[in-house]
Amino acid sequence: MIAADLAQPDDFDAWRDQARRLVEQAVPPDQIAWSDGNGPADLFAVAPPLRQPSSPRSVRASRPFVDLARSAILHTDPARLGLLYRVLWRMQDNPRLLDDAADRDVALLERLAKQVRRDIHKMRAFVRFRSIQDDDGELYVAWFEPDHRIERANADFFINRFASQRWSILTPRLSLHWDGATLLEGPPARREDAPREDATEELWLGYYSSIFNPARLKVGMMVKEMPRRYWKNLPEARRIPDLIAGAREREIAMIATGSSLFETTAVPESLSAVAQGMAQCTKCPIGCNGTRAVMGEGPADADVMIVGEQPGDTEERDGRPFVGPAGQLLDQALDAAGIDRARTYVTNAVKHFKFVPRGKRRLHQTPTAGEIDICRWWLDAERALIKPKVILALGASGARGLLGRTPSIGRERGQAIAQSAGASVWLTAHPSYLLRLDGTARAREHDRFAQDLAGLAQVLRHG
Ligand code: URA
Repeated sequence: MIAADLAQPDDFDAWRDQARRLVEQAVPPDQIAWSDGNGPADLFAVAPPLRQPSSPRSVRASRPFVDLARSAILHTDPARLGLLYRVLWRMQDNPRLLDDAADRDVALLERLAKQVRRDIHKMRAFVRFRSIQDDDGELYVAWFEPDHRIERANADFFINRFASQRWSILTPRLSLHWDGATLLEGPPARREDAPREDATEELWLGYYSSIFNPARLKVGMMVKEMPRRYWKNLPEARRIPDLIAGAREREIAMIATGSSLFETTAVPESLSAVAQGMAQCTKCPIGCNGTRAVMGEGPADADVMIVGEQPGDTEERDGRPFVGPAGQLLDQALDAAGIDRARTYVTNAVKHFKFVPRGKRRLHQTPTAGEIDICRWWLDAERALIKPKVILALGASGARGLLGRTPSIGRERGQAIAQSAGASVWLTAHPSYLLRLDGTARAREHDRFAQDLAGLAQVLRHG
């Protein structure tokens, strides 16, 4: 037997180097005792020969295999290293092995990778930071218990999401500490090492209660999405039994008043509390995609609020709304209408950037109505704090975030839409739409946009 040891059980590169050498030396899978330092070592195994054979076999490993293997290696099943090698070994003679979904090894590998991917997703969705103060200022600390060894693999997600904050994620296997510049690893932690509550807890609970739509309650689906084993570490889970119990009455109340539940829940006390809450929000798939939330921008006492759809590529990178091409068009049009952007509060219906990757580019994807509705709570919170007199919705998504329905911009633009929450809402086209047009359509739509803004300027002047 040949011993193949990994110093770190989640170290894919180390596994790949050893596996490559073993295939080059034509060592069959049943001759290798893999160990990752977590199980009993094989006492009769010997260290692998490190010499290069004079005519090594060339090694084939397809991209799909490497992708699967990168996930599967994070599984806690001790047999995974041998399985990975067996599949790699068999692929040398059968490069299309992965296409055979009925093959036992392939099916098992797919299953392990899928369980790991699910665990990664759950960690992104269910890590809940609490803020504490230490000698260096504010520190966000979270406790999480992953099923598999996904902590390091997930670190980049949290670094990208909370790049400028200091945070620690504590787990039973290790802890990760980000100081705003460097990621450090620490020893395993205990649940008691993380704070149980913080000042934003009520904000989060309020948000959760408000987006808990009793009319859509399907307990089975909810438990599938948020398995019970995570509940003990999720502050909002404490509310679930009461929310389920009261769902029927809440639904009746909603229908009777035609209201959004937001009106009945606590509003965050400051824009910075809103920013902090939305930065942590992973309630919809966009919130879990690793981008940062982009908060609205402008004076807290602005008379005008402008609501777009969602941050784009430039906005997500800069962390500011409407600073890319659509923002430039908006700035010019506001200027031409005599509206000073610096005196408006500019924000979006959806706070994270939804995109599909295409090589190095991130292509915009329109948020679904459900995603806009989930994010509405944050927009409502900004609106309740700013208390604008007039709100301008840019495009259908911005309008949905404000009205709770998707209007026809063509039919409803150019008139005030009164709302129970105060402030009249005005609709116009989205500047990105204008940027996509050519020729006469472009000229016509630019004109209509300019007219809408001129109308808004008039409302502001004359009330
Ligand atoms: N489009 C939007 O809807 N919002 C932005 O912030 C930028 C582009």
